[in-house]
Amino acid sequence: MLNWDEFHEDETTVAEQPKPAPAPQPAAEPQADNAAVAESHGNYQAAEGERLARARRSLEELDVAAGLEELEMGAARIEVDDKQMINARADLNQLVPFKYEWAWQKYLDGSANHWMPQEVNMNADIALWKSAEGLTADERRIVERSLGYFSTADSLVANNLVLALYRLITNPECRQYLLRQAFEEAIHTHAYQYCVESLGMDEGEVFNMYREVPSVAAKSAWSLKHTQSLARPDFNTGTTETDQELLRNLIAFYCVTEGIFFYCGFSQILSMGRRNKMTGVAEQFQYILRDESMHLNFGVDMINQIKIENPHLWTAEFQDEVTQMILQGTELEIAYARDTMPRGVLGMNAAIMEEYLHFICNRRLAQIGLKEQFPGAQNPFPWMSEIIDLRKEKNFFETRVTEYQVGGALNWD
Ligand SMILES: [Fe+2]
Ligand SMILES: [Fe+2]
Repeated sequence: MLNWDEFHEDETTVAEQPKPAPAPQPAAEPQADNAAVAESHGNYQAAEGERLARARRSLEELDVAAGLEELEMGAARIEVDDKQMINARADLNQLVPFKYEWAWQKYLDGSANHWMPQEVNMNADIALWKSAEGLTADERRIVERSLGYFSTADSLVANNLVLALYRLITNPECRQYLLRQAFEEAIHTHAYQYCVESLGMDEGEVFNMYREVPSVAAKSAWSLKHTQSLARPDFNTGTTETDQELLRNLIAFYCVTEGIFFYCGFSQILSMGRRNKMTGVAEQFQYILRDESMHLNFGVDMINQIKIENPHLWTAEFQDEVTQMILQGTELEIAYARDTMPRGVLGMNAAIMEEYLHFICNRRLAQIGLKEQFPGAQNPFPWMSEIIDLRKEKNFFETRVTEYQVGGALNWD
């Protein structure tokens, strides 16, 4: 055999290398699909019956018997009632007939909201970031912490989707949305990278913040903890214990990571944009927030549908446990708020953010049918709700997105 090291030692070219001795061939096996190949060249004229028999032999020789068994050739056609959120045995390769219309609709809505980071004009941000008096030290800290947390957080979410969750959700409508969501997470990571690159920030510092800055690391570590068991190759649902573990993962990622951990940073950056600072970064965040609110709603729908189909999982004890999980996530986000806002900044401070996070925590609990833990908490940032409901015709921050074209560029006035 040609050895790479030997090749370099004697400086000969590939063409000059002596041909390796032919490897000993195994005893001649029946040629796999000569007949099929001949047919494709147009000179095969055997009778139909013989042709089919040969084709079947070819398939057998191609060793696709396991695949044929998986296809269940000739099995009854799939019925809507065969579909389930988890532990379904029905064929997962057939999108229709639809059962989970809400999942399909979210796939359509997500696709209609398609955007790319390069479509956002970053010129004003670059000038502001590089000018000595452009931002206060506290404002710079918020930009750095936000990009630090988010630049890896969306990768954690994407990895959980692809490596842990996807195979355990057993209907094609939800899988279709999960694939769309996974791509959106890639776009979000791209958007953060694009901001970091545009502003000329220290990439190593930003992308390592999730393991170097304690308030950022605490949130990332909490999310990672909840993906570990599902990501094990031998993990499977099918028992009360493992089905509950899947629900824990869904609550940890959709309700807490995407539903709470993103909200301090989002509201800080969007508040900055409302003050006409870092408007390009803010616009990126506003598109991301719109996507994230759909991810959250999809996760809530999945959790509630799994509860409907498997009411035995939603015990009083389990409800207490996941309520504590959501409270714990809220505390981590409040700690992050304190770290990122040691003083008042942008009309916000850590105490106002705490109130907002109590309001958000109540929402997350209520969305999956749990009791609110902060009665009477109010939303001090009603403008956040307006941004979440962003419609394509709305104009923000003077950037005036006038038209949103799927597969095309945004138009700028
Ligand atoms: Fe994301
Ligand atoms: Fe997301």
